[in-house]
Order: sequence, then structure tokens, then C-alpha cells
Amino acid sequence: MNPQITAFIEGLPKVELHLHIEGSLEPDLMFELAKRNNVEIPFNSPEEVQAAYQFEDLQSFLDIYYQGANVLIYEQDFFDLTWAYLLRCKQDNVIHTEIFFDPQTHTARGIAFETVINGIDKAMQKGREELGISSQIIMCFLRHLDQDSAFETLKQALPFKDKIIGIGLDSSEQGHPPEKFKEVFEAAIGHGFLTVAHAGEEGPATNIHNAMKLLGVSRVDHGVRCVEDSGLVKQLIADRTPLTVCPLSNTKLKVFENMSDHNIVDLLRQGLCVTINSDDPAYFGGYMTDNFMAVAEALPVSLEELQAFSLNAIEASFISDEEKQRLVDLVTRFSREFLA
Ligand code: HPA
Ligand code: ZN
Repeated sequence: MNPQITAFIEGLPKVELHLHIEGSLEPDLMFELAKRNNVEIPFNSPEEVQAAYQFEDLQSFLDIYYQGANVLIYEQDFFDLTWAYLLRCKQDNVIHTEIFFDPQTHTARGIAFETVINGIDKAMQKGREELGISSQIIMCFLRHLDQDSAFETLKQALPFKDKIIGIGLDSSEQGHPPEKFKEVFEAAIGHGFLTVAHAGEEGPATNIHNAMKLLGVSRVDHGVRCVEDSGLVKQLIADRTPLTVCPLSNTKLKVFENMSDHNIVDLLRQGLCVTINSDDPAYFGGYMTDNFMAVAEALPVSLEELQAFSLNAIEASFISDEEKQRLVDLVTRFSREFLA
């Protein structure tokens, strides 16, 4: 690739809005935690784990991803997981990140909600102090489970409300549309949470429409299938509803066969507020810089457009206007100095 583009991507200050902390569990740490906690995993080495990461679709990934999370038991494990991710953020010049976690994956195994959130939160605090990375937590409901389970999870979250900025919806999109969770999202909004939802990843454009209409989402996670409804695309442009797109995830899970088929640059040029994110970087072959590189390698994209992905993510983030302005200044100063 053009070395100027590579250098620009490496130095560009980035904001991540779609990252599942359980999806940042690298095979080495999985192994270490399995040993530390005496948990059996069906692999003999981190290399074997890596080799198993070949996916046909979203479900084939989720099966392995939920199994991997079994090694996470103590607060220290959630701390170590989050700290490892934040160190990668530092390497990639990620200056702000909004982290998803899936409480039900852990509470279903008898791990207390507070164990999970306290481990994540303490690492984020250390990240602010020692790495200068700001962060927020978004709690996701697993959509393959029923709404009663989501309501129970919402109840467990209330004592930790000040640590959680928003509520999301993830896991198997097929057969579990947004309308299944309408009431629990209404309740969450009533408690003051912002909302987001995975929609239009493997599911149809109607899921994007319904996530906006019924779940009151501030952003759509993935959303790449919006192109199947031109009226919806017009609305996304008019409202500046952000899409948190995950390029390497999309090719790994065969939402697009090749990166050169991906619609992310087209969507940007049409005026949508699209952003670049890593989703589950330990499983999909890369963190933020890798995702930017993969896009720039396969698709024609200018430095200005690469910068626009960062500016869009700042616009779409759940931080104050003052904080947004501080991050915009960092991005524009970087570009100006790079081009000088
Ligand atoms: N889609 C749905 N559920 C998920 C994903 C995803 O990309 N990553 C982790 N859980
Ligand atoms: Zn995701």
C-alpha cells in the first residue's frame, strides 16, 4: 500500500464504538486464564485456538466466542482482559472507546454481575489515568435469550447505573428481531440509558428500521444492509444516524465475500455517518489500525475520507460536546501536521 496512507492510518487518532470486550480475548490470554482458573478448553495450544477461528457465518462464530468466555471467572480476569485491550488501543492511537459487554454470558455461569463490571471498570479507570484513553461501558442483551432474561439483567444493572452509558443488543440476528425487545428498551430508556442495537448485519434492512423506531437507538451497530432500502438510506443520511461498521468482522463472517465488495466507502460518500470498528478483534484478525488498513488496501479511499471516519466516530460517541471538541482538535491537528 501507499506508504503515505499507511503512515496516516497509524498516526490518526481513532475512536472505537463497536467492541465486544469478550471478543478481545486473545488465544494466549485464554490459555493463561484456563490454566490459572482450572477451566478445561478443547484446545492444546494457543495456535490450535487460532486455527479454529474459521467461520461460515455469525452463528458459527458465536458458538466459539461463548465457549471462549468460559475462562473468565474472577474480577481480575475481567480486569486483565480489559487492560490488554486498552494497551492495544494505545498502540493504535485509539483515544476514546465505548466497550460492549454481555452480562448474560457470565451470569448464566454463576458469575456475579458486579464481578464482571468491576473488573472492566477498574481497568478503564487505569486506562484513563495511565494511558490517557477515555472510555464508556455499554451493556448488551443477548437477543437469542428471551425478553424476561433481558429485564432481569436490566434490574441487575441498576445499582451500577453510573458506570453504564447505554444498552445494546447483540448475538444471533436471524429469528430475533428488534421488536422482541421493545418493552425492555423502553424501560431502559426510562432509566436514562442511551440505546444502540446490532441490526442489518445478517438480518434485513427492516431490522434497522425497527431498531430506530421501536428501540430508540442513537446508533446502529453494523447496519450495512441498509442499502437494500433506498428510503432508509435517505433517512439515515438526513438524520445522521451513525453506523458502527466492522470491516474485518464482515469479511470473516461472510457478510461480504471480499473487502473489495464492502460498501463502507460508498456509504461514506453518500453522506452517511459511518465509522470503522473492530467488533471482536481477537477472532477477526485485527484491531482498529488493522481495520483501517484493510479498508484502505481494498478500496479507493483518500486521506480526507480516512480522517472523516474518525470525525464521524467522535460525532457519534456518547461524550459531552466539550469532550467531542477536544477530540476533533486532536484529529484535525494530526492531519494538519501530517500534511505540512
Ligand atoms: N454480531 C452479533 N453479536 C455479536 C457480534 C456481532 O458482530 N460480536 C459479538 N457478539
Ligand atoms: Zn458486534
